[in-house]
Amino acid sequence: DMSPEEIAFQGRIDRNEKIEPKEWMPEGYRKTLIRQIGQHAHSEIVGQLPEGNWITRAPTLERKQILLAKVQDEAGHGLYLYCAAETLGVSRDELLERLHSGDMKYSSIFNYPTLTWADMGAVGWLVDGAAIMNQVPLQRTSYGPYSRAMIRICKEESFHQRQGYAIMMKMANGTPAQKKMAQDALNRLWYPSLMMFGPSDKDSVHSAQSMAWKIKMNTNDELRQKFVDQTVPQAEYLGLTVPDPDLKWNEEKGGYDFSEPDWDEFYQVLKGNGPCNKERLGARVKAWEDGAWYRDAMVAHAKKKASRRPV
Ligand code: ACO
Repeated sequence: DMSPEEIAFQGRIDRNEKIEPKEWMPEGYRKTLIRQIGQHAHSEIVGQLPEGNWITRAPTLERKQILLAKVQDEAGHGLYLYCAAETLGVSRDELLERLHSGDMKYSSIFNYPTLTWADMGAVGWLVDGAAIMNQVPLQRTSYGPYSRAMIRICKEESFHQRQGYAIMMKMANGTPAQKKMAQDALNRLWYPSLMMFGPSDKDSVHSAQSMAWKIKMNTNDELRQKFVDQTVPQAEYLGLTVPDPDLKWNEEKGGYDFSEPDWDEFYQVLKGNGPCNKERLGARVKAWEDGAWYRDAMVAHAKKKASRRPV
């Protein structure tokens, strides 16, 4: 029981046509995109915090420059994605208001702490690695502005992933204490990284409709499997051990069998009860409030300029 417009719209999706901002779209399509792109933008912005934590403590000037540049890239991705969301008729102010009130989500991963310098390696390697695995297919997503944003973002994310792996190589081949730090970072961030792909397919409420609309190109479990298959050999190359005693190559399926993350923990983090939820959201709200004087000054200046008589 689709309307004629909906049937025509689905036809366009099925022919891999891009949907552009001013074109007709079902309300559910628009809402789903605002939810996903908005959440994605928030993740990039909140995602600056765990790494920002290490900028002042980077071990060398070069490492500090690289980390600064990477964190700035994440800010750029966030702004780029807010622009894409705005083309759907939602304002940036509203998106931020919904983030700050806890109404909109951001990725669960950023509610975990970054305890040592090795975490900068593991975040780049695993977190950005998972992000690319999820975002490369999104370059083909049906909504034009989102798909174009993804092309640029993926280029930068792959650089981020490599810089993380470079840190891991240094640490894993360093002193025994450094290697231990690298292993500890992998131990703590492995399962939270697997959670980034979302709940298992049987519990994913949005996947079926989002895939029919090509807002999502793969299921959560498909991408999680690909991530594990790509990452395990990388861990082996580092001489590190993935913290999963049940991890095993499965010849028949051509991939690894692995343990699921603790889904109770995942849902607790989504509810705001992760190790750093309060700190992360608090930092974003504080930044917004601290910037109020600046926004007020910009508005006052614009008003003054507008009221000046033309000469
Ligand atoms: N963290 C927080 N919330 C999550 C996560 C996660 N890792 N995974 C799923 N959820 C939420 C969903 O948003 C949804 O909640 P909602 O209805 O309140 O929005 C609920 O859990 C159920 O999950 P799904 O039905 O599977 O949701 P969805 O189809 O949106 O799939 C996914 C989740 C895979 C994250 C999808 O939204 C997506 O691909 N988003 C774009 C990529 C992205 O946001 N990446 C951010 C991290 S990468 C980075 O920023 C460096």
